[in-house]
Amino acid sequence: MTGKIEIRPLTGAIGAEIVGVDLSGEISNQQFDAIHQAWLDYLVIYFRNQNLTPQQHRDFAARFSALEAHPYVESIEEVPEIIAIVKEPDEHRNWGGPWHADVTFKPKPSNGAALYALEVPEFGGDTGFANLYLAYETLSDGLKGVLAGLRAVHSSHGMDYYDGFKGMNAKAGIGDESTHPVVITHPQTGRKALYVNRTYTQRFENMTFEESRPLLEFLFAHSERSEFTCRMHWENGTLGLWDNRVTMHCAIDDDFEARNGKPGFRRVVHRATMAGEPPV
Ligand code: SIN
Repeated sequence: MTGKIEIRPLTGAIGAEIVGVDLSGEISNQQFDAIHQAWLDYLVIYFRNQNLTPQQHRDFAARFSALEAHPYVESIEEVPEIIAIVKEPDEHRNWGGPWHADVTFKPKPSNGAALYALEVPEFGGDTGFANLYLAYETLSDGLKGVLAGLRAVHSSHGMDYYDGFKGMNAKAGIGDESTHPVVITHPQTGRKALYVNRTYTQRFENMTFEESRPLLEFLFAHSERSEFTCRMHWENGTLGLWDNRVTMHCAIDDDFEARNGKPGFRRVVHRATMAGEPPV
C-alpha cells in the first residue's frame, strides 16, 4: 500500500469505507496509524474487495489489539482466534441478530472485532451499527446525572449459543455475568458513551429486574434510534471492523424466503475478536 488512505463516510453518525488499500500487502506503521485513527473516528470501518487468508485476516486484526477466542463458539481449525458465523439457507435467524455489543457479560468485553465476508448474498444479510457516543451525548443533563452513578449487570443468560445454528460449532460453556458502569469513557478518545444493550444488560446493580426495566427499555430504544446508526452491506471480500466499546450491532434477520419455508441465502463470515479491558 502506498500513499494516503481515502475515507468515505457512510452516514452522518457512524461508519466509513476505506478506499485504495490492499490488506494482503505491506502496510506501514504510518499507514496503519491512519487506519486506526479512522476506526476511532468513525467507529466502524470497512474495506471492499479484499482477498485474505484466515492468517492475513488474523494478522491485520492483531495490529489493533491482542486477540481472543470466543467463550462459547469453537474457533476455526487454522486460526485459534477466528470463529465462523454461518447462516444456512433454511435458517431465518442470524447469530447476533438482536442489538448488542459483544460479550459485555464478561469482566473484560472485547475491544472490537474484524469481520470478513466469505459468502454473502447480493442483497440482504446486512449488519446495523449504532454510535453509543451519540446515544449518550443526546440525553438530557438531568438523565446524564442520574446515569452517572449507576452500574448495570450484564448476563449471557438467555442467549441461545447452542441450537439453531447448524453451521456453527458451539463450545460448552457456563453462563457469565459481569457488572459495568452505565456510562463509560473510551480509553483512547476520552469521550463518554452509553454502555447498555438489550441482549445482555439485565438490571441496574442493587435494583430488581422490575425496578430497572422501564429506564433500561428507554435507554435501549434511545440508543437504537435510526439517526445514530448505519447499515452496512457486505460483499464477498469485505472486511469490516468495529470498536466494540462504543458501538452496538445487529445482524439483520431479513431472509424472508427462509422465513416462508423456501430456500434462502447462505451467509458465512469469519470474525477475529480483539481482547479488551474492564470498561470504566
Ligand atoms: C456478530 O458478531 O454479532 C455477528 C455480526 C454479523 O454477522 O453481522
